[in-house]
Amino acid sequence: MEFGNQVWLVSGASSGIGLQVGLALRARGARVAFAARGADRLRTLVAASTAGAPREIAVPLDVTDDVSVRDGVRTVLGAFGRIDGLVNMAGNGGALQRWDAAGGTHLREMFEVHVFGAERMARAVVPAMRRQGVGTIVNIASTVAWVPMPGAAAYSAAKAAVVSWSGALRAELEGTGIDVRVFAPPHTRTEAGVRWPLPLPRIFEPDWVAQQLLRSLQQGSPLSLPGGNLPLLWLQRLSPTLATRLMNRIGFSALQRAQEHAGG
Ligand SMILES: NC(=O)c1ccc[n+]([C@@H]2O[C@H](COP(=O)([O-])OP(=O)(O)OC[C@H]3O[C@@H](n4cnc5c(N)ncnc54)[C@H](OP(=O)(O)O)[C@@H]3O)[C@@H](O)[C@H]2O)c1
Repeated sequence: MEFGNQVWLVSGASSGIGLQVGLALRARGARVAFAARGADRLRTLVAASTAGAPREIAVPLDVTDDVSVRDGVRTVLGAFGRIDGLVNMAGNGGALQRWDAAGGTHLREMFEVHVFGAERMARAVVPAMRRQGVGTIVNIASTVAWVPMPGAAAYSAAKAAVVSWSGALRAELEGTGIDVRVFAPPHTRTEAGVRWPLPLPRIFEPDWVAQQLLRSLQQGSPLSLPGGNLPLLWLQRLSPTLATRLMNRIGFSALQRAQEHAGG
């Protein structure tokens, strides 16, 4: 896949991995729509990096809102006339917490952004992609989609739903020219990522993760888990008990660290 002159819409593009994906696409010659809720932050980022070239736009939108998404996609089509790729990066896992401490709306909130938000965005761009006869949708998962983590029950469930939905969507859209991919970042040094004190040997930089996403697109991989996380999926298949034990240890340790940190 060559990105030159393609048009990409990236949600969650005002910070973290999404921002770096947008910048990396732009560096490869794509026209990029940077989307997130925070209009000021977005506009500053886009204005700061544009230097007068109208090859990128800031699109303030909230993936949890039908009208906002519809208007945002219209803006992109108005500016560039097409959408070759959508990266559904919006959202994060929030604070680590036990299910019973999280409150009755937490699961719904996680699904609203990660699952329904991605679905809403896909629904808005697919008609244009069908007309073009080509398009790519990248949905963002996490290793906890396959091996759920204590302290992140709702997030794990939402990411599992993203993976499952993406698989079926990919099959249903076969033959239309629209491809659906899943990309699962490793633990990444973002505003959200550093709030999870996971006992892992390494935390990855968002620009490196963004490069891995572009690489997976070029390789045509339907599923990509960079940063050494793929073996966890194999372990989950070969020995679910062991994989669960490992993730439980990571989750409970991170929960304890997060609580100690919060307690000062
Ligand atoms: N960091 C990690 O370790 C890690 C690991 C695995 C998976 N992931 C996944 O990677 C993605 C990005 O994570 P990140 O760590 O880069 O997060 P982040 O730094 O917190 O960035 C999240 C982005 O999403 C936007 N956003 C949040 N809610 C939104 C909404 N309702 N509508 C539109 N935009 C929204 C935020 O901007 P506004 O607040 O202005 O809207 C921001 O641009 C997420 O899907 C996350 O689950 C991250």
